[in-house]
Amino acid sequence: MTTTPHLRPLGETLGTEALGIDLSKPLDEATSAWVVRAFAENPVLVFRDQDLGAPELAAFGRRFGTPRMHSLIKYRHADHPEVSWLTNVEDDGKVDWYGVKRATDWHTDSTYEDDLPLLAILHAKEVPSEKGGTMFADMRAAYDALPEPRRQQLEGLTALHGRSIGPAGEKLYGDDRGVTDKTYIDVHWPAVTRHPVTGRQILFVNPMHTYGFVGMSRDEAWPLIQELAEHATQDRFVYYHRWRVGDVLMWDERATMHRGAGDYRPEERRIMLRTIVYPN
Ligand SMILES: [Fe+2]
Repeated sequence: MTTTPHLRPLGETLGTEALGIDLSKPLDEATSAWVVRAFAENPVLVFRDQDLGAPELAAFGRRFGTPRMHSLIKYRHADHPEVSWLTNVEDDGKVDWYGVKRATDWHTDSTYEDDLPLLAILHAKEVPSEKGGTMFADMRAAYDALPEPRRQQLEGLTALHGRSIGPAGEKLYGDDRGVTDKTYIDVHWPAVTRHPVTGRQILFVNPMHTYGFVGMSRDEAWPLIQELAEHATQDRFVYYHRWRVGDVLMWDERATMHRGAGDYRPEERRIMLRTIVYPN
């Protein structure tokens, strides 16, 4: 039996199920085009009851661009380095109790890089018995809801980004930022960007990696970054995704911020496959 692909909203602002699609098989052109369109309008898109290996996940990612290796070497999948593990289970089978706390402050991935990811995809393999969700904030709706003077100010601002050195990064990590295979130089991104397909404006400031604005003192910039983060993460802009095994969830890396909810029992296993996709 085949079902025509269709959408069903999960949250008020973000979170949409895409039903009637089996990602284990190569998508035909029409279905692929449908997913691309659906994702442009729905920046957190969820496919239920999938069972993909790393190659299938990477192949799905290649429908949108080029999946790239994770910067943290220890998380890379051994056979498919463009897919990584997001897991709290160590090589010896022990559960890392710190796992529940990882990535639990609001951020957008890799804005400290000199090119930006388009999207990321997570595929749930094992999930905690309760909670353990991922939260997403709608940075389009957040931008639209800012007061007009603030929007005008931000339109003219260029933000400075560095790896985990924004207000939330300092709080969460201090000097412990993990081992990567390169060093990062600070990069600049406009504080407001536009969605490449819909043209909608997006607030592109995140409290993890944004640490300032060109021409603005730190004393001015940090309160502004924190104010914007608080604004964007009000309940009305946030979707909490409750994971089920088999979920494939893709999110737009420009139109959203995300964080781990950090609310499951730390001894429970949580294992996902992940790929992060860059423009071709
Ligand atoms: Fe992330």
